[in-house]
Amino acid sequence: DEKSEKCTVGCPILDRNLNGGIPTKSITEVVGESGSGKTQICLQLVLSAQLPPSHGGLNGSSLYIYTEYPFPIRRLKQLSLSLLSSHPNHLLSSSDPLSRIILRGISSAENFVELLPDIELCLRYWKSRLLPIRVIVVDSIAALFRSEFGNCCFDLKRRSSLFFKISGGLKLLAERFGLVVVVTNQVVDFIEGNESVRIGNFSELCSSGRRVCPALGISWANCVNSRIFLSKDQTGIKITRFSSLLFAPHLPLSSSQFVITEKGLFG
Ligand code: GTP
Repeated sequence: DEKSEKCTVGCPILDRNLNGGIPTKSITEVVGESGSGKTQICLQLVLSAQLPPSHGGLNGSSLYIYTEYPFPIRRLKQLSLSLLSSHPNHLLSSSDPLSRIILRGISSAENFVELLPDIELCLRYWKSRLLPIRVIVVDSIAALFRSEFGNCCFDLKRRSSLFFKISGGLKLLAERFGLVVVVTNQVVDFIEGNESVRIGNFSELCSSGRRVCPALGISWANCVNSRIFLSKDQTGIKITRFSSLLFAPHLPLSSSQFVITEKGLFG
């Protein structure tokens, strides 16, 4: 979409992989096994979004919705100090970057649906040093659906209807307010004939050599616009992460490598 802007994730090699960053006005999913770096990317995104467009940001504040407790506040602080030291002359340094990140914990998918009208109000009226909200992170979507639902038809219907309400609500907000929306998702073991694999795109190897595919199946896969797959490979103490673009209507398939350090993600 030519009218969409891009937001840097604060790691040049990943940004290049994404053709300049994560696009506004659509939903981008970051999927990967535990410890692959999904949360690290999200934390870095909500900090980088505060930078001006000349530095790849959106001059924006963020709303970070987390579903797994506790929220990694110490890590966010650590990354914010690292960002401040690499952009010392910027507006960022004039006040605490954490004041431009609204944190909200939620515990169920229904809870999320109920929150959507409040999110819209928040987008309309919340201002912090004149930086409007430009990013919504949902970390993780899979946790909202983890144990609550069985496999009977009724549950599957209820689940799909919640997928639809959540993604439909987020897409509307993304379009209306020009937002970057990122949701994280877990992986499940690949099973031959699994619905989510049948749409052709994905089963990938994770660090333990298992073949995995994104959780929540095909009906959720149809709710997101782009999907970034993270995997890790541990050699000695250095862990190399790989990101590949599983599908993105605007981009060719590509992949890149990065590491996570105390100071953040590096290519
Ligand atoms: P789940 O939430 O369990 O699904 O995992 P995730 O994919 O969100 O993983 P997350 O982004 O939390 O990444 C965790 C990994 O980041 C850890 O395993 C560490 O390797 C790395 N990490 C986090 N903080 C630091 C840090 O301060 N220094 C270094 N070197 N690595 C860190």
